Amino acid sequence: MNNNPSHIAIIMDGNGRWAQTQGKNRTFGHEKGSEVVRAITTYCAKNPEIQRLTLYAFSTENWKRPKIEVEFLMKLLQKYLTQELPTYLEGNIRFQPIGDLSSFSTSLQKTIIQLKEQTAHCTGLIQSLALNYGGRDEIIRAASALQAAQTPISLDLISQTLDCATDVDLLIRTGGDHRLSNFMLWQSAYAELFFTDTLWPEFTTDELEKIIHKFKKVERRFGGLN
Ligand code: IPE
Ligand code: IPE
Ligand code: MG
Repeated sequence: MNNNPSHIAIIMDGNGRWAQTQGKNRTFGHEKGSEVVRAITTYCAKNPEIQRLTLYAFSTENWKRPKIEVEFLMKLLQKYLTQELPTYLEGNIRFQPIGDLSSFSTSLQKTIIQLKEQTAHCTGLIQSLALNYGGRDEIIRAASALQAAQTPISLDLISQTLDCATDVDLLIRTGGDHRLSNFMLWQSAYAELFFTDTLWPEFTTDELEKIIHKFKKVERRFGGLN
């Protein structure tokens, strides 16, 4: 039996290094990377096997980068979320951000919430951008909420209190490194992990298709026996 790639999560890494190979500033790589986000999202929206696509766009640790790069990323995000509305609507894609949005500027927060509302009626793919997202931060925020509510803890309750309640089936990292960098720590408990050396700006729907093909053949046991 084939596995279903119902929830795909991607650590989109390698923008800066790709820009360097082109003799350009790191920001050029982020710009190109945002085009790949559109292509991969549109592809996933057309594949009925895929219900969710969660993309790591900015981590809770990425604030450590030079101010100029962080500012560029904030502007790029603002631009992307504003201009991509037709992509979401045409693809019947619902936008659902995850992460702690409160650290962003008021205007960026408004843009994020606006796209979420404008696509709330879409019934196809759910695309999440992880924005100021950290798996540990997500767990701390959920634990605090549960503590405040004084409810008994259960697996389902923790899942539902996290930013994303859905387990990841297939987790992909581009850019050659083999680590999670604080992404979807709870949700990836039984995810299949795929690492590729391809830098994110060069990642294609063809490569994604090949990874999905391999993923389908994996024997997933979830601790049991087959
Ligand atoms: C990923 O690419 C995008 C973000 C983290 C925002 P990088 O910017 O980390 O690119 P590399 O890994 O330095 O090449
Ligand atoms: C992970 O990439 C974060 C995103 C892709 C948004 P990083 O480039 O920040 O990860 P490290 O620093 O290599 O672990
Ligand atoms: Mg990186």
